[in-house]
Order: sequence, then structure tokens, then C-alpha cells
Amino acid sequence: MDIARTPTTPDGNIEMADAAVEPKDPPEIRREDYTPFAWLVPETHLEFELGLESTRVRSKLTVVHNDKVSRSPTIRLNGDGLVPTSVTVDGTPTQAFAMDGDDLILTLDDNAHEIGIETEIDPSANSQLMGLYASNGMLCTQCESEGFRRITFFPDRPDVLSTYTVKMSGPKAQFPILLCNGNKVAEGEDGADHWAEWHDPWPKPSYLFALVAGDLVARNDSFTTMNGREVELNVWVRDGDLDRTEHAMESLKRSMKWDEEVFGREYDLDLYNIVAVSDFNMGAMENKGLNVFNTKYVLADPETATDGDFDGVEGVIGHEYFHNWSGNRITCRDWFQLSLKEGFTVLRDQLFSQDMGSEPVKRIEDVRVLRGAQFPEDSGPLAHPIRPDSYREISNFYTATVYNKGAEVIRMMRTMAGEEAFRKGTDLYFDRHDGEAATCEDFVKSIEDGAGLDLTQFRLWYSQAGTPKVSVELAHEGDDAVLTLSQVVPDTPGQTGKKPMPIPLKIALFDRESAKHSGEQLVVLDKASDTFRFPGFAQLPVLSINRTFSAPVTISRNIERSDLVFLARHDDDPFARYEAMQDLMVGHLVAASKGELGDDDRAAGTTDIVSALRSVIADEALDDLMRGELLSMPSQTYIMEQIEAADPGRIFEEREALKATIGTELKDELHRLYERVEAVPYSQSAEAKGARKLKTLVLVYASASDPQKAAELAAHQYDRADNMTDRQGALMVLTGIDSAERTGRLLHFYNRYRDNALVVDKWFSLQAMSLHPNVIEHVKALAQHEDFTMKNPNRVRSLYMAFAANPHGFHAASGEGYKLIADLILELDPVNAQTAARFVPSLGRWRKMEPARSAMMREQLERIAAAPKLSRDTFEQVTRSLG
Ligand code: BES
Ligand code: ZN
Repeated sequence: MDIARTPTTPDGNIEMADAAVEPKDPPEIRREDYTPFAWLVPETHLEFELGLESTRVRSKLTVVHNDKVSRSPTIRLNGDGLVPTSVTVDGTPTQAFAMDGDDLILTLDDNAHEIGIETEIDPSANSQLMGLYASNGMLCTQCESEGFRRITFFPDRPDVLSTYTVKMSGPKAQFPILLCNGNKVAEGEDGADHWAEWHDPWPKPSYLFALVAGDLVARNDSFTTMNGREVELNVWVRDGDLDRTEHAMESLKRSMKWDEEVFGREYDLDLYNIVAVSDFNMGAMENKGLNVFNTKYVLADPETATDGDFDGVEGVIGHEYFHNWSGNRITCRDWFQLSLKEGFTVLRDQLFSQDMGSEPVKRIEDVRVLRGAQFPEDSGPLAHPIRPDSYREISNFYTATVYNKGAEVIRMMRTMAGEEAFRKGTDLYFDRHDGEAATCEDFVKSIEDGAGLDLTQFRLWYSQAGTPKVSVELAHEGDDAVLTLSQVVPDTPGQTGKKPMPIPLKIALFDRESAKHSGEQLVVLDKASDTFRFPGFAQLPVLSINRTFSAPVTISRNIERSDLVFLARHDDDPFARYEAMQDLMVGHLVAASKGELGDDDRAAGTTDIVSALRSVIADEALDDLMRGELLSMPSQTYIMEQIEAADPGRIFEEREALKATIGTELKDELHRLYERVEAVPYSQSAEAKGARKLKTLVLVYASASDPQKAAELAAHQYDRADNMTDRQGALMVLTGIDSAERTGRLLHFYNRYRDNALVVDKWFSLQAMSLHPNVIEHVKALAQHEDFTMKNPNRVRSLYMAFAANPHGFHAASGEGYKLIADLILELDPVNAQTAARFVPSLGRWRKMEPARSAMMREQLERIAAAPKLSRDTFEQVTRSLG
């Protein structure tokens, strides 16, 4: 049988790759087509002869039929750009294999076998940073989702679990440190070469494989688990970076302790290694026992990292650690189940960070991310359910929907069950599915059984895309407050006529005189429309709804501005108070941008906003971190999302005008606030972080009301700063003000930090994010800077992601911003497709914009689509965006 000509290989692989398919039209993979793999691979032995330009890989796989599936005479081993230099079955060289596209297909008889395959790869030529690649003279791997097939032929799918033993060898001088998953079981020397053998006792899918070889040094520590086992901890970095690893190590220990206390999860190996690499597509990767991290999420000290960076390190370290249970011990059956591990682990890292710092501020930050990234995704051409139904390139589905909405969906179950019952549900899940490749349905069923909830209707959250819109009306009948709620789940590409979903809303009804309520309540709206009565109200109360953002929905209500002012002053839920403050400003800016605001309304609106902000500044019960949230203006992007056919130019002007009014009206209060917080010395305490947040916020307001004065103040803050938060905040404000201070401090910053890649990234970002009128010219010039390179994803993102997220530049009326991003996508696509594709969604928002911009955005998408050779990643994103 010539298998290469037989496109339907009954081997149970969901990816029926067809060799005849053009790279431009990759096949669609569908969730409903899932079939288990017909073979088991109980053991995998790998041998690496390491070299930067040439690495030889020898694999030995033991394979047996999977008894749960009907037998198949063939086995498909995925490859990606590999050539087999030798193939053996049970030790005997064989020609009885065929190539089907990039995959290798072997015909085997009924027995168990040992397959041996040799390949040779060139890590230094790997610019995609998937598989085995070179970074700064070291070798490292990234295998999720489908990178392992760029190293060796293998059933590269998450439901094939295997126990790995790995031997690697190479020149000792070049690669003094050799790391892999699990524990080191042997090592030795052989002339100038040395070798190490590692064994990972926990069966795992290929995407969790990792190997690192290079000249690294470690911060070493240990952790004693709840059952008294001692775990060796290492954070590996390049020589010279060691003194910036303390925060990462402390975060790791806090994560380990927290997961024991809050989820009852204990670590399960004697060793936990983290390696920082500077060329990395993502933030970090949870490979079993050997996490690989982007340096951005490991290295931090006060001199070079902001408070936000410190929080980022803690959150990502936590996230990858928590995957050890939610991802590694229980993995995903197929990539459609990605939210099983990512949504749940994001929730776990969010709860961890809430416990480590300020709970409400963390919640506000997470909601801001959700609204800034996921809501737009959910209302645009790339909308998909948290458990997608189909994809062409799985890398495109590591989205805010799968991650952040996924986390919100699980958070809702927790809210409905209560913390204790939810814990019973997660205990049952970990117990029931340990060692398995599971599904989202397995998770929901475990929570249902363990927590004692009926989640029948709730499962719709997994299958329906789109952000539900909840309309709210509050009436007063006799002594009752009557709440009428209705929901609409909007149509999304490929999905119409959706069903109502259960929406848990925390509410409180405030008495207008006492500004108190008699207890928060949870109402669950599970019909298209429903009415809830609350007795005992002599007059109409003020409604606080979706407190703590208990459901990921948009709320539409006709609320008096005076009620928003009331809530902005009195709401005892910090999130709801923040929300009222934001609504006050958003309402004003939306009306103003649409030209719907008469002079009187404008004056009344600003008066209310200013007086609410004034009481926030004066409120002594608030901590400064929370005060900073309450005093922050809504982003341009968020305002844009509220308007059909939005005109970003108009929004920018209105927002700057309001900022200037606030700066002018509250000049004295803000000045006194600055003086107070300026006196707080540097530390990592919440108080000191809050102080730093307020310092820069005051500069932001001043920059609109009195730019020249603000430039002086910012330069002063910059010059006397003893930490990166103050320095970066000052420089951020300066980049928007055409002044001598701007040029001088930007130059100073670069010269001071030119040898620190992560800080140079900040220097690029600050200029790309700036409100300066010439931001496009600045970005073009920076792209020619000697430190700019398309090869390093952090650097590319620091310039271009920052720019694409800056409406002032990206949406410039000329359309030049769109062209700049389209040019970038085309240039980056052949170098690093995964990173290139991540820029497409910004252009995909074309339907939301006013006609002129809309047409120009579309034109750029069409230009990309017409390019002769596009990666699968970019092709899929562009065609769906044009949709
Ligand atoms: N498993 C992912 C890393 C990953 C993402 C690999 C996409 C391959 C493709 C990891 O656990 C992760 O989610 N990392 C996030 C950070 C996290 C804190 C949300 C990332 O890298 O952005
Ligand atoms: Zn993750």
C-alpha cells in the first residue's frame, strides 16, 4: 500500500493533513472530528547531540495499539520541516514508511514495536522560535502547541502521554549546563564533551517537553512541601543577571505555598527549574519541572523594573507553577479544550495575585484587560467561544477569550457555588482526572458533582460566543423595589439566535438618605427577561449592580448622573465604586465625542466629574493604590468601543479636553497630593506603590492643563527618581510634550540603560505609546535604530504592539498607522509567523470605525491577503478579519 497517496489514514489523528493542500489554504480542523489516537507511546527515549548549527536527534518510541480504539495498521508521526536520516523498526532499518506532507507514516504489524528515527536540525536557523532554537548562544525549546514536531517525528497531540528519558551531549565549554524535564539521573564526560541523562517519571504530552543547554548561573533555594518533601528550586539566568532574580524566587515560593493552602495542591518532583531566555514568543511556558520564561517575567529589581513589572513577574511565575496541576497532571485532550488549562490557570493566578496584594485593585486590573482585549475580540470578526469549534492554526487561539473570558466563566461557577463548595468541585476534578488528558466537559461535570450545582444551562458559556448585554430597569412599586433584567447574547460569526445563559449578578440597593444597604445579594438571570422584587423600600433605592464584576457582561441602564455621583462617593464595593466613576466619565466622553453635548450639559457633566474626583482625593478611608484607580480616566480604546463608527480623532480631543479641565479645576488638590506622596520613600509596600502611582497620575493631569509646567515637574521627578516606576512614569509624560526636557531625558535614559535589553524595550515602547503629534515619524525612525531587530519578539512588540495600541498613532487620519502595521506584518511573517499574526486583530476592528478609516484598514488587510506567501497563522487571521 502506498500510504502517501492515500489521504485518509485511519490512524485516529484528527489532523488529516493533505499533501496537495496549498500552504495558503490550510485545512480547517474541527472539534467534532476528534478521535483518539490508535496507538499508545508508553516510553520515549531521546538522544541529542547538541550544536548551535546542527543538532542530531535520535528517538526511540515504544508503541502499542490503543485497546480503547479499533486497530490501525499505520501510525502517523507528525513532522514539520524534518527529514528522517534513518528509520528503524525493532532495531532493523526499514523503508516501509511514507511521507504524507510533513508527516511520516509507518506501516506496522500487530505487535508492540520500537520505532527509531534520526533527524538533524539547525537551531540557529530557527527564527520562528518554535521547536529547538538558539538564543544568545544557548539552546532552548518551545513545544506548545505543535513545536515538538520540529524536533523529531512524533504523535504531536496532547492526548498521547509518554514517559521521557533524555540524554544530551555537547561541548562542555559551550553548554556547561544541560537541563531537561524531571530529574537528572546520570552525567559524565567524554573529552571536551559532556553529557547528562534526565528522566521524568510523570507521563506527559510532547508539548510539555523541554530542553535547555547553555552557559547559565542559578539562584538556588528550596521549598518544603506540606508533606515535608524538600524541593530544590533554581532560577537560571545569564551571568550578570543573578541579582535580579530574587523577586522571581520569592514569587515561586509564595506560589507553591498558596497552591497548597488554597487548592490543596502539592508539588510532585524533587526539582523545579526556571530558565530565563531573551528570545521568546510568549511570556512563559509550563514544561514539566523545567519552565522556560521570557526574561521579562523573571528579571526585576527597583532600578530597572516598574511596580507593574514586579506584579507581572509574580503573576506569571504563579501561572506557570499552577499549571503543574491544572495543565500538566491533568492536561487537555485536544487543543479545543485549551481553556481547560488556560482559563482555569488564569483564574488561579488572578486569585493568587489578589491574595498577595490588593484584591479590589487586582480585580479592576483584570477587568480592564478583559474589556480592553476580550470584549473587542468578542464583538468583532475573530469572535469565538471559550471552547472553539474549529481552527486552522491553533497558535491563533491563545486568545483573550480562551484565557480571560475562560477565567471569568470559571469564576462565575465559583461565585454561584461559594468558595467552599467550589473547592470541593476542584478537589473532585483533580482527583477524578489526575493523569488524564481531559475536556472542558470533564471539568464542568466535576464542579457540578463536587459543588452540588446544576450547570446544565451554564454549559452554554462554553459554546456561545459574544458578550451578553444585560438591560437593567429599577422601579418603585408600593414599598417594593422592582428590578427588571433582560439579556441578549449578540450574533457572532457563524452563530446566530443564541439562548439565554445564567448570569450571576451581585447587587446592592442603597438607601438614598443613609447611603447604606442591608446586604449584598446574588441574583441569577437565566431567562431572556426576569423580574426580582425587594420589599421594604419607602423610596426608590440606588442600585449597585455587577459588583466585583460578578459576570463578564455589559450593563445597559438609564441611570441618572446624580446616582452615578452617589455611587462614586458611597459604594462600599470598591469595584462598583470604580465602575461608577468610570461610567460618569465614559458617559460624558461618549456624548461629547458624538457631538451630542450642549454647552450646559457639558458644563454640568464636568462639574459632577470634578466634584466626584475631588471627594476621591479627600477620602481618607481610601488607600492610595485604590485612589489611583478611582482617579484614572477611561482609555481611548475603551471609549471607542462604546461608539458605533467611532472617530478616534474626536475621542482623543474630547478626552484631552476633559483631562485639561480636571487638571485645571483640581490644580491645588493635585498639587497637595503630589507633595504628600512625593515624601514616601521607596519600598515594595502597598503604600509606597500607591504613592508612586499617584505621582505619575498627577503629572498626567498637569500635562494636559499646563504642559510646560508638567514638563518641568516630570523632568524633576525623572532626575531625582531612585526607581524605575518614577523614572518611567515621568518619561511617559515627557514623551507627549514637545520640549527640551523630552529630548534630553529620552537621550539620558537610553545612554544609561543601553546595555539592558528589557529597559531598552521600555525606551522603544514609551515613544511608540506617546501622545506626541509626530508619533508616527518617531516610530518610523525607531524602526531604523541600530537596536531594533525583527528577530527578537520583545523588541518587535516593544515598538509595534505599543504603537498598535496607541489610537493616537495607529488611527491617524492619514491611514499611515495602518500601513505601518501592515508593512510590519508582511516583513515579520516569514521570520516569526506567530508573532506577526498577533498584529492582525488591530486591523480587524475595521467595522467599528468611521467610514474613511474603516476603508483604509480594510485596504491594508486586503493588501496582506494578496501577498504571495503567507504563513498559516497570518493567513487565517487575515481571512477571518476580512470575513
Ligand atoms: N502555556 C502557555 C504558554 C504558551 C502560550 C505556549 C501560547 C504556546 C502558545 C503559558 O502557560 C501561558 O499561558 N503564558 C502566558 C502568560 C500567562 C500569565 C497568561 C503568556 O505567555 O502570555
Ligand atoms: Zn498558561
